[in-house]
Amino acid sequence: MSNIYSRIVGTGSYLPSRIVTNDELASTLDTSDAWIRTMTGIVQRRIAGEGESTAEMAAIASARALGNAGVNARDIDLIIVATITPDLVFPSTAALLQARLGARNVGAFDLSAACSGFMYGLALADGMIASGRLKTALVVGAETMSRLLDWKDRSTCVLFGDGAAAVVLVSAKNPGVRSVRMHADGSDPNVLCTPSQRSRYLHMDGGAVFRFAVRGLVEAGGEMLEANNITAASVDWLIPHQANLRIIESCARKLSIAKEKVVVTVDRHANTSAASIPLALDAAVTDGRVRTGDSVLLLSVGGGFTWAGGLITWA
Ligand code: ACO
Repeated sequence: MSNIYSRIVGTGSYLPSRIVTNDELASTLDTSDAWIRTMTGIVQRRIAGEGESTAEMAAIASARALGNAGVNARDIDLIIVATITPDLVFPSTAALLQARLGARNVGAFDLSAACSGFMYGLALADGMIASGRLKTALVVGAETMSRLLDWKDRSTCVLFGDGAAAVVLVSAKNPGVRSVRMHADGSDPNVLCTPSQRSRYLHMDGGAVFRFAVRGLVEAGGEMLEANNITAASVDWLIPHQANLRIIESCARKLSIAKEKVVVTVDRHANTSAASIPLALDAAVTDGRVRTGDSVLLLSVGGGFTWAGGLITWA
């Protein structure tokens, strides 16, 4: 058993300045604030403007995370950017981020696992640190989902938003990250996809995604409780992927986690894909809810399907 662990020592985030309310969408679409709120819990989303590219948002979020961690960019060994909306096909957003941060002697790559991308990045960075191969990693979730949306399709465009968030992980003698597990099942890709060759827009079977999302989150949560031999009552905070308040509430109910312990940002951010979990984590750390010693359960589900769970002790 390795006696090296990874520990998150800083978080940071960036949200575009432009707020788009449900009412604003209803002024051009056959939808309403009441429908969107009732069906999804979403009240508003942030939409990137000119200059707010995925790499630019990632750079600002990362600089804030490094500042909060007290870590110099030159000391980062690895940069992982989880995104399905890179600025370029290549070079990777992570490479663009490396240059913006002025990091040296660093490996940098993008990771595509849709809304589970941040959790996959956390799993990889944790594994590299726990194996002793490196000491400091930056894991970022950054998305400009607005670029994938057909703004005339009310069934998808109301659900998403843009933003970025980052965490800095360092090697430590105590956890930190207690465990992270990843899953994937690509047997039905058309349920949630952007075909690219045929259409640049995001397509989704909302009902099927809803049902799978609850199942995936609950499965990942149950697996984490069992793997760490803990009860739901000992979880201090649940930070699930932020897609829909009804999905989040159903997941918490099925896992027997009290709703007061659930961090919710979907009302303000909508679904920011890979950025959603680190954005919610940063919000709960910044407002003082997550404190030293707290057990935090992170759960993701996304296109693929992909799903993942992680348990961390906040240090
Ligand atoms: N405004 C008003 N009416 C709408 C809107 C809208 N924005 N969108 C759809 N409707 C209508 C439909 O046309 C339909 O009308 P009809 O009954 O006349 O045919 C009615 O509302 C019901 O639509 P459904 O799609 O059947 O409603 P459902 O109960 O499935 O809820 C929703 C839709 C909210 C999208 C839900 O399926 C959902 O949240 N699914 C999960 C989707 C998701 O989170 N995707 C994100 C990516 S995946 C991830 O992050 C895990």
